[in-house]
Amino acid sequence: MPSLDDLTRPPGRPPRLLYGGDYNPEQWPEETWTEDARLMREAGVTSVTLGVFSWSRIEPTPGAREFGWLDRLMDLMHAHGVGVVLATPTSSPPPWLGHLHPETLPRDEDGRTEWWGSRQHFSHSSEAYRRHAAAITEALAARYAHHPALTMWHINNEYCTHDWGDEAARTFRRWLRDRYGTLDALNTAWGADFWSQRYGTWDEVLPPRRAHYTKNPTHVLDFRRYTSDLLLECFRAERDIVRRHTPHLPVTTNFMPFWSGQDGWAWAAEEDVVSVDVYPDPRDPHGGQYNAMIGDLTRSQAGGRPWMVMEQAAGAVDWRSVNRPKPYGLNRLWALQAVARGADAVCYFQWRQSRQGAEKYHSGMLGHAGARGRVFRETVRIGEDLAALGPRVAGTRLVTETAVLHDWDSWWTGGQEGAPSARVDHAEIVRAWHRALWDAHLPVSFAHPHHDLSGHRLVLVPHLHLLDDAAIENLTAYVRGGGTLVCGFLTGITDQDDRVRPGGMDARLRDLLGIDLLQEWWPLDEGERVDCGTFHGTLWSEELTPAPGAETVAAYRGGELDGLPAVLRNGRAWYVSTLPEPAALGALLASVAHAAGVRPVLDGLPEGVEAVRRGELLFLLHHGAGPVTVPLPGRHRDLLTGAVTEGSVKLDRFGVAVLEEHEPAPEEVRP
Ligand code: GLA
Repeated sequence: MPSLDDLTRPPGRPPRLLYGGDYNPEQWPEETWTEDARLMREAGVTSVTLGVFSWSRIEPTPGAREFGWLDRLMDLMHAHGVGVVLATPTSSPPPWLGHLHPETLPRDEDGRTEWWGSRQHFSHSSEAYRRHAAAITEALAARYAHHPALTMWHINNEYCTHDWGDEAARTFRRWLRDRYGTLDALNTAWGADFWSQRYGTWDEVLPPRRAHYTKNPTHVLDFRRYTSDLLLECFRAERDIVRRHTPHLPVTTNFMPFWSGQDGWAWAAEEDVVSVDVYPDPRDPHGGQYNAMIGDLTRSQAGGRPWMVMEQAAGAVDWRSVNRPKPYGLNRLWALQAVARGADAVCYFQWRQSRQGAEKYHSGMLGHAGARGRVFRETVRIGEDLAALGPRVAGTRLVTETAVLHDWDSWWTGGQEGAPSARVDHAEIVRAWHRALWDAHLPVSFAHPHHDLSGHRLVLVPHLHLLDDAAIENLTAYVRGGGTLVCGFLTGITDQDDRVRPGGMDARLRDLLGIDLLQEWWPLDEGERVDCGTFHGTLWSEELTPAPGAETVAAYRGGELDGLPAVLRNGRAWYVSTLPEPAALGALLASVAHAAGVRPVLDGLPEGVEAVRRGELLFLLHHGAGPVTVPLPGRHRDLLTGAVTEGSVKLDRFGVAVLEEHEPAPEEVRP
């Protein structure tokens, strides 16, 4: 399969990191394109994504093909040494498609139509949409297959649509037939005897539309699985078209970060390159950790291979209620942080900031202030940094000994109506655990609960509500094989149909974790904390009876749960029945990691400094304000500045050093 390596490490050329962004030049007169190309060169841009929203420009009327402007752009980019990631424009059909084929427009769960006038107004189920999308993809691929600027395909954009309409009902039934074979099996899986929901014919089965009261949770779960799969069908159809024309070029589609709508494991397996769009909030004090988590997840989805930041913002976005820019240095810090965590491509939405349209207040690499603006000056600086790092970094990998298990199937069961607490948010819990590991400087990867875990010393399960039998067998085999496992509350409560396991939690897991009886859940309210002796728990607490031989490492104090385990240990398997406050969770995971033989990247790092090893290089990234000194024994050379340090490294606010061990040259050695 073609990969990012083919682009970043072409034979006979030094390895490089890709740098650039979405380029939407159809907004500008052609004189501007020439200026863009010149400024791209100044900024060290090596890659642009063209055509993401160009459908109405390429096909202004049904069947028309207007490629002249795109030909000129492809040629211009090539002449300036900029490679093109060419997007299929299928995420935003032209108005004529909805006008001619209203059935291409999705319906929401209340039956309301999503009209054109914005973007992403297509139904994954619409036969007419798929036909037109395939035709434009075919034409684009045939036209540019041999263009020398073309480096990669970008299919659609942030697949995220839903449809509850009539065509969707048809494809939902088809998907359900494939899954269950018979209506009886569906009725059993959905527990349809409860509330008289038993289906007698397939035509009675609908998407989970607006209803009087709580919907059947397995029906909703299957609809989420189906939506992810239907969008994946759309992706595959376009991918197969472009592959037929250019089997030598990689294909990707850009994920939203930590996005619940697509099964990220299943999707990544279908791509040649895994790419993501990531927009941490510059005002979030933990924005750096969030960026790190997205990097860890995306790298893991790519199987540890280099991945791609397809989009980030050079400054402010326009979709939060208050959109603040990045202070100078933060864009560079987060860009290099992605590289530290395995990215071989750093790209942005978008190259030149728009003057019209819905995103005119969203930053670009070249902002409204132009080439003299500080945003562009930082764009140039990042280009220089990436050029300096490329030869040593591109294609290298990270080593991790800790895996965090995450799965979309389980995520989809959370947040359902009728849950014990509406405050339990899968993504927030995973983020809290990742943050604890980030604070402790423990490098982590993510893994699916079916993955081979034997290469990890430590496996963490922050929150996997639904676990099928294969996952449970995998966890038990992992611990039997000598691994250390820590599970958070609500692990393995339900099976693949979201049916509660006998006893309220899978019996094999109870055995493994040292739980005799899971009695009752005691979820906590906003601001409520439970005393666990040496720390406080939040969000959740639990009434459980430990099995003989299990050790209560921390117990609830006072109240209904007095004396019952908040943290339980059964050999190498741990169970945490609450969400400890951040520092306590960090301390707990760090001490379990230590006992499992997992060491932080560096000891004694100052507050706010992140350390990551990629290949043979050590990245130090300072997320805090004010200068800091990082103790670092030995001599090192910073690849970004060429400076040689001894014994310590100084970093300014948002400072980054990328260090290699430095042997003194013979003339440097004093006699
Ligand atoms: C997404 C989209 C882009 C743009 C940005 C704005 O990532 O893919 O087209 O809308 O958001 O942040």
